Amino acid sequence: MSKTDQVNILILDDQPSRLLSYEPCLTELGENLIKTASVTEAISTLLKSEVAAVLIGITPPARDGIELAEMVSRHGCFEKTAIIFISDGSMKDSELVQKFDNDATVYVKTPIDPKALCGKVKSLVALHRKKSTSDKLKSDFDRRVDERTDELLKSQAKLKMRARLLDIATEAIIVRDLNGLISFWNSGAEKTYGWTREEALGRKIHQLLQTTFPVPFDEIEKQLRERGVWHGRLTQSRKNGHRIVLDCRKTMNEENDAVLEVNRDITSEIKAEEVLRATEKLAAMGRVAGIIAHEINNPLAAITNIFYLLRNHPQLGDEPRALVERAEQELERVSHITRQTLSFYREAKQPILVFVPEILDDVLELQNRLLRENKITVRRKYYSAAPVTGFPAELRQVFLNLVGNAIQAMPDGGVLGVSVRETTDWTRNLRGTMISITDTGVGIQPEDASQLFQPFFSTKSTKGTGLGLWISQGIVQKYEGRITCRTVRGTGGNVTSFRVFLPGIGAFERAHHVEGETAGHEYHVPAAH
Ligand SMILES: Nc1ncnc2c1ncn2[C@@H]1O[C@H](COP(=O)(O)OP(=O)(O)O)[C@@H](O)[C@H]1O
Ligand SMILES: [Mg+2]
Repeated sequence: MSKTDQVNILILDDQPSRLLSYEPCLTELGENLIKTASVTEAISTLLKSEVAAVLIGITPPARDGIELAEMVSRHGCFEKTAIIFISDGSMKDSELVQKFDNDATVYVKTPIDPKALCGKVKSLVALHRKKSTSDKLKSDFDRRVDERTDELLKSQAKLKMRARLLDIATEAIIVRDLNGLISFWNSGAEKTYGWTREEALGRKIHQLLQTTFPVPFDEIEKQLRERGVWHGRLTQSRKNGHRIVLDCRKTMNEENDAVLEVNRDITSEIKAEEVLRATEKLAAMGRVAGIIAHEINNPLAAITNIFYLLRNHPQLGDEPRALVERAEQELERVSHITRQTLSFYREAKQPILVFVPEILDDVLELQNRLLRENKITVRRKYYSAAPVTGFPAELRQVFLNLVGNAIQAMPDGGVLGVSVRETTDWTRNLRGTMISITDTGVGIQPEDASQLFQPFFSTKSTKGTGLGLWISQGIVQKYEGRITCRTVRGTGGNVTSFRVFLPGIGAFERAHHVEGETAGHEYHVPAAH
């Protein structure tokens, strides 16, 4: 038997000769024998180590052994310890039996039959082992139950927290099975679609929401099965019948028997983007109208003068004069159309004080969705809050385009820097504000640089109008400002920056004599909202 498997057997006997006589037969058991000659020694052993059985030699009138037996049998911590009394019969068995009436107490009479003693000790040790094993099993079991309860409590708390998180999410979070039956519907879904949880649970998702898919439904299901995820745009109905556009992410669960959907209503963002695009086109038309009107006005004035002289020419007969008069009337119509076109695009209100950082914050807010989707980090550095005079809608147009271009240049993410600081344009000795829009995107090719501000120059095929920078330049020039750009190519990547210089307060008025009728090239950019 290995040392670790041995149990302790304690022997207390004040008669050394008797002690010696037990030993050979007990040694055969292969357990660990601890021999003590006094109660104190025996107790100290009992307290230090676990003992399977105590052999107590009883020699009247000494009652040491009985004292020890009493302690062992009374004390709860020795409940697994068996007692074997060895007596010469001079103490009445009945007295001992009365005192220690249990199945872990045995009496052996001297002279000792070694085999019988050995057999008794053996069976008591086996009993002890059995008890120890079952105790160990029980305590293992208790420990496992405790651990499991702990785990369950923890996971319940986790689940509760997750459920709370799912409910504070503004996105619609929905779980449905492979037949489309809804099994989870968070409060974001309630808000997005107008259907309450009770109304939605158990319904078929695409019937309830009347989903229109961008690609055949089978393709989406196939991609979900094969890759486990799908991302795209859906059109769905709210409870009130309004159609909404949603950015949708679907994920298959681990067991492949349910689909988790996270849907975000992007209807208003898309509308805002459409308005932005329309605004860009309108602004372009404004600039074109301004240019045409300007170009037409001068020759028109010359022709009008010539016709006036012609009509009053003394050699002109009645018939040609009538024709000239008709031509003059048509000319008047042309002038009227030019004036009308101009007034349509003309900014109606007076310019106001504009705080550039506020405009930039507006622009970044408008572009927030694209910034997030393209994983772009925004770094704002507003060192100046000095206002400029002008029209907020026009300036917003300029920065929307510059920020929009920067985002489009970083389809795989990057850093967008937006800074504002006061500066002086030394060439004209003008104080003003410098706004930099910097990106870490694809950069500008040297061969494109000279054409960037030309109308219709775009490297974005169908996605670009090629009008943004052209319009921006027109607006900035109107403010007597400047717009420049450059790309620095480094080992860490490209850094492209567009810089807009706007002169300080008063520049706009100086350039445009706002009180009076303005020159023919003025144009108006309609507000983005
Ligand atoms: N931040 C930028 N990084 C790289 N290229 C740019 C950037 N901004 C503008 N460009 C280039 O200038 C072109 C013209 O821009 P723009 O006039 O705004 O028209 P659009 O954006 O519709 O193409 C773009 O197509 C692009 O090639
Ligand atoms: Mg653009």
